[in-house]
Formats: sequence, structure tokens, C-alpha cells
Amino acid sequence: MFATVTLPRLLYIGAGAVAETAAVLGRLGVKAPLIVTDGFMVRSGTLAKATDRLDRAGLAWQVFSDTVPDPTDTVVEAGVEALKGGPYDCLVALGGGSPIDTAKAISVLAANGGKMRDYKVPNEIPRAGLPVIAIPTTAGTGSEVTRFTVITDTKRDEKMLIMGLACCPAAAIVDYELTFSMPWRLTADTGIDSLTHAIEAYVSKRASPFTDGVAKSAMALIARHIRAACQEPQNARAREAMMLGATQAGMAFSNSSVCLVHGMSRPIGAFFHVPHGLSNAMLLPEITAFSAPAAPERYADCAKAMGVAAEGEGNQSAVARLIDELRALNADLKVPSPRDYGIDARRYTDLMPTMASQALASGSPGNNPRVPTQEEIVELYKRVYA
Ligand SMILES: [Fe+2]
Repeated sequence: MFATVTLPRLLYIGAGAVAETAAVLGRLGVKAPLIVTDGFMVRSGTLAKATDRLDRAGLAWQVFSDTVPDPTDTVVEAGVEALKGGPYDCLVALGGGSPIDTAKAISVLAANGGKMRDYKVPNEIPRAGLPVIAIPTTAGTGSEVTRFTVITDTKRDEKMLIMGLACCPAAAIVDYELTFSMPWRLTADTGIDSLTHAIEAYVSKRASPFTDGVAKSAMALIARHIRAACQEPQNARAREAMMLGATQAGMAFSNSSVCLVHGMSRPIGAFFHVPHGLSNAMLLPEITAFSAPAAPERYADCAKAMGVAAEGEGNQSAVARLIDELRALNADLKVPSPRDYGIDARRYTDLMPTMASQALASGSPGNNPRVPTQEEIVELYKRVYA
């Protein structure tokens, strides 16, 4: 048995790394970036932190700042038009997961033509496009190191998973100093997303010794620092740990997989516009309780990595501590249930079979230690509504 591992060619990780943006472009041999970001990055001055250095290096750049949360096929198409408007040789993605996923999709669509839907999993992406240099400002989706992008099909309200070497950034600049201004809710949601990536990568049927190592490191960092990062936004130690954990969790799940939590989370996000990390959080404790009996040792390892169970502790007791901790984390981070979030009970109930079908069709539940039936997924949706 062997594992295949896809990673960016170049990573700059740590305080002040964003000041090296021009150097990173230079090392990749590119010099004309279209910067893909959002309006907030422009207004808050974060964009200037990257572009100041590009200006000093004498590089010409332009900005496409129309990206939206939960990126859509129509925004990607607009980005492709922007890309055609100049002699660009790379895309610099600056922001949370949405601008990074948008930049990846623009690169894929510009190189291959057609519609975004044409590249939905399990379809292949024939050609790699312009290199993407990803600069995350959240900790985070891990998108800066993954071979995935998730784009919403606006006609069908479906979050499509698009996967391949062509979606992996050429370089990532991972500077935790960009995360000091993240508000409490965003820190919590993106942090739980990262924790979910690490846990799912570790328990996945596709896990390998490579992904196990980075997943456990990510769990250890995130579990120990997520509360402090939320409560003390300027806590550099916590922010650094969260950022490193998010990137390692990205490396883990990109080369293993996500599982049932992400499979069930995407339809909740698509139909009810719940932020991605928050819909994961709503599901994580219950899905862990459902899945753990099929892989108690693996979940016990997660509890130990997170520091909530002792090294020598038995599996059953460690798994119980893991589930308790995930529930406590949701309480501390004020994660609402779907009902408390304001999701209409009737619409939710009506959509449960569709959501379950979409979850299964995404392929993610098939990697779960316990593979649910359609009926079991409906039952789980019911259980988490509360
Ligand atoms: Fe995620």
C-alpha cells in the first residue's frame, strides 16, 4: 500500500510572511497577478499589505474583488472574464476560503472552458490552469493547501465539490498576523471547521501514515488554542497555533478525505445559508457519536491528541471524553442548533431526503468509518435539529 500526497510547491509560514508575496511570485517565475479577493480585504487595508510589496518590486497587478461567501458559478464566470481582460500569468487569492476557492475555480474554468458543473466530482479536470498563490486570512478552511474547491451551482442550490491537481495552489503564504482582526464568531466557526478537517481526515478510510501525523498535530494545536483565540483576539501564540493547525488540517484532509460531517454539512449550507464552519459544528458531536462505534481506537486517538483523554486510557472512556469535549466546545463557542439558528422546521423536514441524497452523492459519507444509509442520514438530520 502506498499513499499519494498533493501539496503546494512552496509554503511560507509565520509572522510577516505576507511581506514576501513578491518574492514568492519571483520564485515561481510569475510577475503579472490578478488578485482575487473581496471588498472587505480592500477596505480593511489587508490587500495593501500584499500589494505594497508588489508595487515595490515593480510588478503590475489588478484586483477582482467581487468574490462572495459560498462562491457561486456566476461569480467564477465573472472572474474568468476579468482574467481575459489582461496579460495575467497567475492568480493571487487573498482572504478566507471563499476568495481562495474562487481563484482556484477561475484558474480551472479559464483553462478548460465550459461550465463549472462540468468539473464536479467525479469528473476530471483535463488541464491545469494559471498557478494560484493563496494567502489565507482565516484559520481556516485549509484551502491554501488543498486540491479541492467548493462552488455553488446557483440553478440547483447545490454546493459542488471540484477536485484535482489543478485545484492545488502552487504556493501558500500562511501569515497568522493576518488573523488578528478576525471577529469572535468567525474565529470560532473557521476553527471548528479546521478541527473537523483534522478529525475526519484521521478517521477516514483514506487515512495514511502521512495524513495521520499532520491530522494529530492539527488536532493538538486547535483543541488547545481555539478558546483563547476566540476570547483574546490579539493572543499571538493562540493565533499562530490556530493558523498552523488549520494549514496542517488542510494537508491532512486534502490527502485523506473529509467524511460524514462535511457530507451532511454542505446541503445545510446550500439550502439555509449557514456558514460552513457553523454547519459542521452543529453536526460534529452527534455524527461523532454515531460513527465512533465503528472505529473506537481511531476516535480514542483523537481524544488523546486533543488532550482530553490520557495516553493509557481505554477506548470507550476516551471516546466518551471526546464526545463530551465536542459538546462542551459547541457550548463555549455558542454554536446554535439548526432550530436556534432560525431554520424553519417544516422546510428543514421537507428537505431532509434531498439533503440526504446530496450528502450521499458527494461521496464523503462513503469514507466515514460507519457508512450510513439514506434513512440513517435523515434520522441524523432530525436528531441535530433540536
Ligand atoms: Fe470544511
